Amino acid sequence: MKMLIQNGLIVNSDSTIRADVLVENGKITAVGSGLDAAGAEIVDASGKYVLPGAIDSHTHLEMPFNGTVSADSYFAGTRAAACGGVTTVFDFAIQRKGMGIREIAQERDALCRPQACVDYAFHVALTDLTDDVLTEFQDAVEYGLMSYKLFMVYKKDGLMMSDADIYKALLRSRETGALISVHAENPDIIDLNIENFLKNGQTSAWYHYLSRPEFVEAEADKRAIHWAKSTGAPLYIVHLANADGMKAVEEAVTEGYTIYAETCPQYLHFTCDVYKREDGRNFVCSPPMKGQASQDALWEGIKKGFITTVATDHCPFTTKQKDWGKDDFTKIPNGCMGIENLYPYMLSEANKGRLTFNRAVQLCSKNPADIFGCTEKGAVLPGKDADIVLYDPAIDFTITNENMHSDCDYTIWEGVRLKGYVTRTYSRGRLVFQDGTFCGEAGWGKFLKRAGRSAESKA
Ligand code: URP
Ligand code: ZN
Ligand code: ZN
Ligand code: ZN
Repeated sequence: MKMLIQNGLIVNSDSTIRADVLVENGKITAVGSGLDAAGAEIVDASGKYVLPGAIDSHTHLEMPFNGTVSADSYFAGTRAAACGGVTTVFDFAIQRKGMGIREIAQERDALCRPQACVDYAFHVALTDLTDDVLTEFQDAVEYGLMSYKLFMVYKKDGLMMSDADIYKALLRSRETGALISVHAENPDIIDLNIENFLKNGQTSAWYHYLSRPEFVEAEADKRAIHWAKSTGAPLYIVHLANADGMKAVEEAVTEGYTIYAETCPQYLHFTCDVYKREDGRNFVCSPPMKGQASQDALWEGIKKGFITTVATDHCPFTTKQKDWGKDDFTKIPNGCMGIENLYPYMLSEANKGRLTFNRAVQLCSKNPADIFGCTEKGAVLPGKDADIVLYDPAIDFTITNENMHSDCDYTIWEGVRLKGYVTRTYSRGRLVFQDGTFCGEAGWGKFLKRAGRSAESKA
């Protein structure tokens, strides 16, 4: 299989050049002009940008959570990914008590493999940090699992880990080259707030936000950063959504600590005002969207380089599932969709001048590739997988559930207008999306056995 993508503008995290891209057997073999096109399918990319596929490093597909299961299967979720220019998906494999690391990942892999339309990997979410699990950290790195998530919340779902466990995991990650990420919020304050609101009959989605306001997240961010400093381990904070936490990250990074901060498109676009809407419960996720000052701080963090990645936390629940919490916000399953919106949204913001296209590519592709050890992803360069997105900066696109490819029956992004859109997605050289239509297949996606963090990500 040979393909030449001609006349496009190639945008990587650190360069923008007009050149052709030669793809052979799923790999990029050359970037330049006057390339040998003998026997190649020619793709004309005139007027288009040629970008590395995005890496959504935070998704929850068919995830058992809050007494139900998230609404996108591995097939539907990776189909939607492909249609939004995402060519690698990192899903969370959640440990049940007593399971080993490999066992957890293998169980999720068995589910995901036959359904995946794009490449995938797992972070392992630890819920039972036994000595055996800590020992297995070493072997796990060797079989390509090197990133863990620990929840500081979700006590009643059995996901929450103690401070001591998180501290232990950080110490062990330092020895083994693994990377620990945390969902940072203060569970006891949340529970106290919830108790008081319910007692007063304050049960709407707005009280979801008020039970987990800015400081509830910031305080936990700061604690986790203290542990990272004390252990000398790197730390990755998932879905950062508040200004004080952002400031703490900036301070720690400036002092020389390796703290990665991820935020999500929903925090960059919506504020807590959505919880006052009639459909407010559809926006319920944790941490919740915050006030304008937090959103501004996140954009500032993007500008200054203290946000490292943007990923989605894609975890959709249908209207019916969300409606369980109509009269009690604590019964609303937590999570929102976004896997198909990540790249188009960030690229649209670039197109509108809020950040550079290079920075959008860095946040959505290059940085996650480096941090999570996907050496073959993250750039349009010879030797990389031909995970390529063609992007037309001139298209006006309005998001509506009808043009999305998730199985969910609505989108929180309904009516949002984007400047520019993805026109084609290639996964290892195979066309999986073209002009609004999915053309990939279940089972195409491969499990990525990952190396450790790249030297660049350690800088
Ligand atoms: O509300 C959310 N974010 N649901 C998914 C689980 C998590 O906390 O990441
Ligand atoms: Zn989380
Ligand atoms: Zn999540
Ligand atoms: Zn379609």
